[in-house]
This record gives sequence, structure tokens and C-alpha cells, in this order.
Amino acid sequence: MTWNRKHLLDIQSLSAEEIFIVLDTARGFKAVGERAIKTVPALRGKTVVNLFIEPSTRTRISFELAAQRLTADVINFTAEASSLKKGETLKDTARNLEALNADIIIIRHSATGAPHFLSRFLNASVVNAGDGAHEHPTQALLDVFTIREKKGRIEGLNVTILGDILYSRVARSNIWALLKLGAKVTLCGPSTLVPRDFERLGCRITHDVREAIENADIINLLRIQHERQRKTMFPSIGEYASLFGLNRARLALTKPDVLIMHPGPINRGVEIDSSVADCSRSVILEQVTNGLAVRMAVLFLVNGGKGPQEIRA
Ligand code: CP
Repeated sequence: MTWNRKHLLDIQSLSAEEIFIVLDTARGFKAVGERAIKTVPALRGKTVVNLFIEPSTRTRISFELAAQRLTADVINFTAEASSLKKGETLKDTARNLEALNADIIIIRHSATGAPHFLSRFLNASVVNAGDGAHEHPTQALLDVFTIREKKGRIEGLNVTILGDILYSRVARSNIWALLKLGAKVTLCGPSTLVPRDFERLGCRITHDVREAIENADIINLLRIQHERQRKTMFPSIGEYASLFGLNRARLALTKPDVLIMHPGPINRGVEIDSSVADCSRSVILEQVTNGLAVRMAVLFLVNGGKGPQEIRA
């Protein structure tokens, strides 16, 4: 099978085979990134636009560097300094970027479905860098890439996602990817933040943090998405940290080879203690490193690449 999609809008619509194409292509690009000369001409002459209407550190910088490593021209759109502030619509903004010959538009937006909307009228490829609480596909791809690299497989692993599931696009994309690749997914957090709906997809739900972490091969921690919550979903940050935060005492209950993951940004002392974030089992910064290779793979594939067979490391 070869890649045949112009856009990357979500994980839900991908098959397991398509996810493996991205992961195997990313493996090739990771090897390229370990060479003395880290650039390849795969996107020479192409223009990539980072259209970020919501804040980002990791995703925006990672996509920018990924595009540069592929020798594309990169434009970083800054919403605060743009004509969106004067009332220009997202549609008009995107069409103007396309009029400047944008080949790939990477969009982050607070509205669910914004990337899907753009893909309906643009000729450019559209890549979802996070839409509301819906999906964050490249985060899930870099997460499963990291799990596979560390554990050698994904199928059969026990993965616990602990935190604010309700408002998390990272949770949704991870759940789709992990279930498609055969992992067993447990969701844990306050009952107000862990929707029962996910049981229908095949996730296990518990509100007992000990039960959630003691058999986990992977614990993926999520921060509280204050920017998306419309009301307080738990009494206090202190209570959340004491009931659900991963601290040294809780880490002692886990398997000795558990991987601690977090998409960032981390809130030290809330969902994760510093002693856990910085411990030897934490792969949080390796996730960031792998994000570069994964995003190079995504840009390469949506631009017409077929798969890992085209990458010479
Ligand atoms: N993981 C993630 O999306 O981080 P940023 O918001 O910094 O891009």
C-alpha cells in the first residue's frame, strides 16, 4: 500500500496501514536528521504556510523546522498581527495565502473542523495542527512513533491516558491511533472530565488512578485545558493534583519499564511532579524530537510522497 491523501485532517479517517506508512516514513527522516547534512530537497520550490490562530510552541516550531529540512519556503502567519484582527474571515485569509502560491497550509484553530472546512475549497494541501477539542493528528502520530521506537511494538500494550480527556484533542487523536494499532487504552481522570462515550470505542474508563497506572506500559498525562472549559470541572487545582497528579509515590506503583509521556505544555506540580517529568522513564523531550521527523513525513506525504521506500537515509 502507498500513501494517497492530499490532506492530513484527522486520525479517525486513517487506516492502520496509513498510520504505519507515516511512522515508517518518519523513521527514514529521523535517520536523515542524524546525518551531518540534515536537509533534503523533497519540497524544494514549495511554499508551506503555518496558519496558527491559537498559541503553540512545539507544533509550530516543529512544522517550521520540518519544512526547512525539506527545503521548502516557510511563512509563519501571526494571527495577532494579521488582518483577521480587522475582520477578515478565515476563508478569505486562506484564499489570499493560496494566491501567494501556498502549496501546504498547516492550520491550528480553536474551532473544531476548521481544517476540514479549508480542505473543501483550497487547492493547497491542508494539515491539521489541532482543531478545538477535536483532533491533533501529528501529536498522536509522534506519540505512537515514540511508543513503537521505545517498546518495539504498539499492539497489546496497555496505554493509560490520565487527565482532562473531555477537552483534549490529543486524547481523541491518540485514542483513534492506539485502538487502530491494537493497543489497550484506559482513560482516567475526574468523572466530569472523562466522557463515558469513549467506552463505546473500546476504551476502559476508571476514576481510580492506582488502578489506571499499575499495569500500564505507557502513561500519557494531559494538562487541564483551562482555555476550553466553560465551567470549573473540579474543586481546585490542589485537589486535582492530590487525586490525579503523577508524583513520586504514584510512580512507585507502576511497572519498572513504564514510559511517561506528555504532549506539553506541562504544568509542573499539577498533572505531573517535576521529579516525574525529569526522571529516566520520562520520554517527554524525545516526543518533541520525534515530532520533527513525523512532521517531515507528513509534509512529504501530503505533497505527493508515496511512503518510506522513497526516503534514502
Ligand atoms: N503538544 C502541543 O500541541 O504543544 P504546543 O501547543 O506547544 O504546540
